[in-house]
Amino acid sequence: MSERLLATADLPDSGVTSVDTSQGRLAVGVADGRPFAVSPVCRHLRGDLAKGHVADDGCLECPLHAARFDVATGAMVRGPQGAFKPLAGVVKGTMGRMRLKTYPVVERDGVLFLDV
Ligand code: FES
Repeated sequence: MSERLLATADLPDSGVTSVDTSQGRLAVGVADGRPFAVSPVCRHLRGDLAKGHVADDGCLECPLHAARFDVATGAMVRGPQGAFKPLAGVVKGTMGRMRLKTYPVVERDGVLFLDV
């Protein structure tokens, strides 16, 4: 089943937004030219990843403490920064081991579809 998510032209400059779908609310965007949809809750302290941004390295960055996630695998690839930076490795090795849920997305004629 294919479910329309949004047109890529409607994505904000952050490269990611929140979309309510049959699978629940997802963080949907485009990273390095590839569309993605992942569960939107950061594994650290539940930041809303749909309010984050796609970083230069193609990872989805949390708006609260800048942990980064690989949108293809859902893995936390960088722990939280700022005041939490001394704990970044510990967070990544504990809460961060629970990957975000990833969903198949395809782009057709500038529109993203959930392909479930
Ligand atoms: S809540 Fe996401 S990095 Fe802290």
